[in-house]
Amino acid sequence: MPQNDSTVELLTGKEKTGKKSRWPARLDYLQSATGIFLALFITFHIIFESSILFGKDAMYTLTKAFEGEPFIEPGEPLIISALAFVIFSMFIFHAALAMRKFPASYKEYQRYVAHKKLLKHNDTNLWFIQITTGFAMFFLGSIHLYIVMTSPEKIGPYASSDRIWSDLMWPMYLVLLISVVLHAGAGIYRLIIKWGWFDGKDPKKNRQRSRLIIKTLVVIYIGIGLVSLSTYMKIGYDHKDDYGSRYIMEKHK
Ligand code: HEM
Repeated sequence: MPQNDSTVELLTGKEKTGKKSRWPARLDYLQSATGIFLALFITFHIIFESSILFGKDAMYTLTKAFEGEPFIEPGEPLIISALAFVIFSMFIFHAALAMRKFPASYKEYQRYVAHKKLLKHNDTNLWFIQITTGFAMFFLGSIHLYIVMTSPEKIGPYASSDRIWSDLMWPMYLVLLISVVLHAGAGIYRLIIKWGWFDGKDPKKNRQRSRLIIKTLVVIYIGIGLVSLSTYMKIGYDHKDDYGSRYIMEKHK
């Protein structure tokens, strides 16, 4: 297969002149940037989605706001499809960049596991958490995003709860929730270490502090996600005999 200069640079890490290529650094930078964007997205996503904890009206109003209400009446679900498309593209791009760092063969993976046992090194464990959760998210996140993209009108207090309970999506959301929060937490911590963001005068102490803050946030976010998921499950269970009927707020009736 013919290879141009960029491909050669990517594969060998060297430019034609023999100088070290800048491509690995550029790709690393892009991976960090897309990772930060997606982590920010998910922190807002889990909060928005927990609107169900404030009642069906709260979740309904927020869903309609994402559909462009009150500017567009009665709301345009295609806006949600477009948003999901942008997130999906970013998600696939980030995953493609991460694949450079996956073990390339079973042998390489075995060598890594032996290494991990030997070293008992925290950062090696974080890397392991990231590749396993990333692998799970690649499938589960894609299923979720595909459904959101193709059926954006089926989001709401009853539609979402029916999907979660009667369409039996809750086990998938449970695994996705834990994977995505662990992945984002480990990823952001590794970025803090990699770029030395909060190192200050006492890097060791500040890294310990960052670790504690991120661990606390991971527990809080998994907690919020679990309580929201249980609420959708309860609403879905109560609504199962009326599966498919949509929630409409009093003032819209
Ligand atoms: C624009 C893109 C997205 C939209 C509009 C969206 C929308 C939703 C909605 C409406 C729910 C409630 C359940 C349902 O209706 O099926 C949900 C749940 C969930 N979504 Fe997303 N989502 C998006 C992207 C993502 C991404 C990229 C991830 C992670 C890879 C993700 C992870 C989750 C998880 C884990 C839950 C369950 C949360 C819980 O247990 O409380 N979502 N999403």
